[in-house]
Amino acid sequence: MKKLLVANWKMNLSYRAGLALAQKYSLSRRLKRSACEVVICPDYLVLPETSRIFKRSSLKIGAQDCAASTRGAHTGEVSPSDLRAVGARYAIIGHSERREHLHENSAIIAAKIRAALSERLIPIICIGEKLIERENGETRKYLNWELRRLLSGLKLSRTEDLIIAYEPVWAISTAPQAKAVSAVEAESVHAHIKNQAARLLRKNIRVIYGGSVNTLNAAGFLAQPSIDGLLVGAASLKLADLEAMC
Ligand code: PGA
Repeated sequence: MKKLLVANWKMNLSYRAGLALAQKYSLSRRLKRSACEVVICPDYLVLPETSRIFKRSSLKIGAQDCAASTRGAHTGEVSPSDLRAVGARYAIIGHSERREHLHENSAIIAAKIRAALSERLIPIICIGEKLIERENGETRKYLNWELRRLLSGLKLSRTEDLIIAYEPVWAISTAPQAKAVSAVEAESVHAHIKNQAARLLRKNIRVIYGGSVNTLNAAGFLAQPSIDGLLVGAASLKLADLEAMC
């Protein structure tokens, strides 16, 4: 299976700048020939037009979030059904920035995962320990707990798929003194997550790494057998960097 490269643009670009970058991405020969499956996650407003721009390219579209239900009185939310209708195939769910700033908890994230699956979106579920948990040697304990909270009782059909993004909170480029995990350490954590998720879901799933990924460290991660791809924030805003990673 191809390695996955997910570009999380967050809210970094204006509407015009987002569309301009989508145009540049769609014209890139290097992305077209890439050995990776590339998924671009623009913000909600840019997403439908980006989907039209990518129509004839192999680039796929993901949303950065989705509502926990499909329809109803949920002011300000965006339905996974409508995201699917305008071209999204993936949705990032449970990003640490949403957990921290918008107080999303495991119950909300679990509901979003189920809502996304019900509309045939592939959830890219972010999990990762905070610095304090790492320093206390509790990374695996935290990950096991979170995986149980998010995945217990979930039954994936043969056609349903989900992806876990291992993103240690302290490694995300906007964290104070952020730095990426070493490829060797990340490999061992990914293998652990795969085992735990396979036990809970009775299905093998892909696990990708995120947190300060750049052109210097991407190859090291992608060379690891248990790391199925990358979730890239800041470095995905430059076409040349994304091309180099692919
Ligand atoms: P970063 O962001 O690559 O800038 O660390 C990753 C993420 O937050 O998804």
